[in-house]
Amino acid sequence: MKKKELKIPLIKDGTVIDHITAGNAVKVLHILGIPKSSSSIVSVAMNVKSKFGKKDIVKIENRELDPREVDKIALIAPKATINFIRDYEVAKKHRVKLPKEIVGIVTCSNPTCVSNVKNEPIESRFMVISKDPARIKCYYCEREPEDISERII
Ligand code: CTP
Ligand code: ZN
Repeated sequence: MKKKELKIPLIKDGTVIDHITAGNAVKVLHILGIPKSSSSIVSVAMNVKSKFGKKDIVKIENRELDPREVDKIALIAPKATINFIRDYEVAKKHRVKLPKEIVGIVTCSNPTCVSNVKNEPIESRFMVISKDPARIKCYYCEREPEDISERII
């Protein structure tokens, strides 16, 4: 199993997002603004065999994620681990964790929701009702968006 993973080069410094739900690596890239707003070297592996079936992996060189980015990843890859790599070693590893509430990260799919009204300074707010796969419900109008990954801002 290890041998298969070694097909993807180890990195010296940066972040490895491991155990991404198979097929969701592209959504993770999208969330992180890759390649548009980032010029880091990125390696992606999809449908890699792991202990628990298939997974995707994203390795980003010379970049550390901020907590908001980690929350976004939790929405589409609830089992992901974030590994901070420093000088080839895993300096820190933590599993993403969805907070009970998601504030200001996803837009509501209901056009008339108070959180979507222009000139109304109300941030979107969702309650997490299921973690894997993530299901969220608008705090204001109770609508459940189907396409969470496309509504992440
Ligand atoms: N990794 C990397 N570059 C390094 C060190 C680690 O790309 N210099 C990657 C590994 O390939 C792996 C992830 O970071 O995908 C986590 O590494 P490690 O903790 O050593 O692997 P595991 O013990 O298999 O992790 P887990 O228990 O989280 O599955
Ligand atoms: Zn709403």
